[in-house]
Amino acid sequence: MIEIGGIPALRQWRKERAGTVALVPTMGALHSGHRALMDRARELADHVVVSIFVNPLQFGPGEDFTRYPRPFAEDIPMCAEAGADFVFAPAFIEMYPAAPEVRVTAGRMGAVFEGADRPGHFDGVLTVVTKLFTLSLPDVTVFGLKDIQQFTLVRRLIADLDFDIELVGLPVVRDRDGLAVSSRNDYLTPGERISALAIPRALDAGEAALREGALGGGALGGGALGGSALADDVLAAARAVVADSELRVHYLSLVDASTLQPVREHFRGDALLLIAASAGTTRLIDNRPLEF
Ligand code: PAF
Repeated sequence: MIEIGGIPALRQWRKERAGTVALVPTMGALHSGHRALMDRARELADHVVVSIFVNPLQFGPGEDFTRYPRPFAEDIPMCAEAGADFVFAPAFIEMYPAAPEVRVTAGRMGAVFEGADRPGHFDGVLTVVTKLFTLSLPDVTVFGLKDIQQFTLVRRLIADLDFDIELVGLPVVRDRDGLAVSSRNDYLTPGERISALAIPRALDAGEAALREGALGGGALGGGALGGSALADDVLAAARAVVADSELRVHYLSLVDASTLQPVREHFRGDALLLIAASAGTTRLIDNRPLEF
């Protein structure tokens, strides 16, 4: 039987649990992407906690905190079907009896990309994730790789604050048309959805440019310009796709996957092609891991 509760119930439940616990943090409005996280959590641990909490700390003024979907009654059956044991759904006042004075700061990696457009967003995310960790004491936690900057920062949070928690990332889940699954897709009109498909197409084009460059023995093949010439090709190919669309692009960048710094000359290793773009008023993000 699935249990649902706030802080006292979760603490009690956790105390009574032997064996391993996996945490899946969410803000609700659960979709197939969340279901994949829960399924993975189920495989990884003896017990699964899903948190559902729309965290006000990570929304800026004028962002969609109040209109963020909260279909709680529909979320619970999905958690139950996925075999979750506890749904942690605290009241706002339990999590923040007063505005927190002490917060976790995301530092420089939290000030770029999503953080540049949303100041304080990642401080809010890391603060609530820290609270979720200390409340549920998980052995493992499962996050989606769609929010790759969030994932990268949670990895640093775990390392820098010495949480003894294994972090597992799940690849982006896509709808049949290629759009990354997101609660915000519900805001798109049919026309905007078609425009939004330029996002995965741009990532495909970037990846294809990398493959072609590698096959052609270009920069990857050890040319004098190393990874940077190829990086230019990847970016140019992706930019050409979005330039030909109705999207408003916030950023389209190729970065080192561990530091989120732009890929430099002679780069070798794991990179990320990152994009944020708006279709109408809906801001969407996506990314593609690329190996240089
Ligand atoms: O990715 C999300 O849904 C949120 O940022 C998270 C991790 C649940 C924190 O509120």
